[in-house]
Amino acid sequence: MKVIETVVAMRGRRRETEGAVGLVPTMGYLHEGHVSLVRRAREENAVVVVSIFVNPTQFGPREDFKSYPRDTKRDLALLEPLTDVVFMPSAADMYPEKYDTWVEVGGITERLEGAARPGHFRGVATVVAKLFNIVRPARAYFGQKDAQQLAVIRKMVADLNMDLQIIACPTVREPDGLAMSSRNTYLNAEQRRAAAVLYRSLTLARELWQQGENDAGTIRHEMTDLIGREPLADIDYISIGEVNTLKELHRIRTPALVSLAVKIGRVRLIDNVVLE
Ligand code: PAJ
Repeated sequence: MKVIETVVAMRGRRRETEGAVGLVPTMGYLHEGHVSLVRRAREENAVVVVSIFVNPTQFGPREDFKSYPRDTKRDLALLEPLTDVVFMPSAADMYPEKYDTWVEVGGITERLEGAARPGHFRGVATVVAKLFNIVRPARAYFGQKDAQQLAVIRKMVADLNMDLQIIACPTVREPDGLAMSSRNTYLNAEQRRAAAVLYRSLTLARELWQQGENDAGTIRHEMTDLIGREPLADIDYISIGEVNTLKELHRIRTPALVSLAVKIGRVRLIDNVVLE
């Protein structure tokens, strides 16, 4: 495994590479969710590149860029058996002074996470486009956990005619259903227990739908009720939308994305399930 810390060196390494390259973009502090993406990339490509870059441009001014958890040593040890190249550029290398080009995906970025976090998807789309240009992968791997991010990347790739395949990987969960996330580390023990309510509410949504309920409003109401009984949880949004556009549905047509953002104390968690 080679650790590469500059854009110039990554491009050099790429020029010498033959065979399909699989890219897994991450912000580090890796967990089993990230590792599942890397394993999938390993199965499908000759060369696996994992990027670790806490991208400043996707964090809002009041968000956790500075405190975002970092542990490079541990990350590298986890990647060692699965990865050919770890690309860890500096912010100054990715965004030199006077950097001024941005990728704005319209429409779907206005809803849900985009509405709650202005500018977030502009930062995500921009850094992912840059990583695609630097690494030139045949395939790039993203988690279903961040369903709207996945939809934004797919739209960018289609609209800008980018020549690679986007592979979606299932959400990896803790035994109580909580989706793994680097931000779970912010939860204290009591909050950690309360956080299981997100997946319980998504499971309830799926059960109601399986029992024949197809009114989105009714399902949202039942989810709101369930989460309301958890005193530490504060709902930001609950959405039942069309999977590609994320437009809200009244009658459920499959595949539909049930997604939510809930604050547990100060920690904002997101999760989703697809009904299909
Ligand atoms: P990060 O939050 O580090 O996530 C990196 C990738 O891991 C994303 O595709 C995310 O969806 C996936 N992932 C996270 N938790 C997961 C879980 N429990 N199960 C399966 N996959 C999971 O998402 C980002 O970084 C950044 O926005 C990035 C795309 C790297 C751009 O900066």
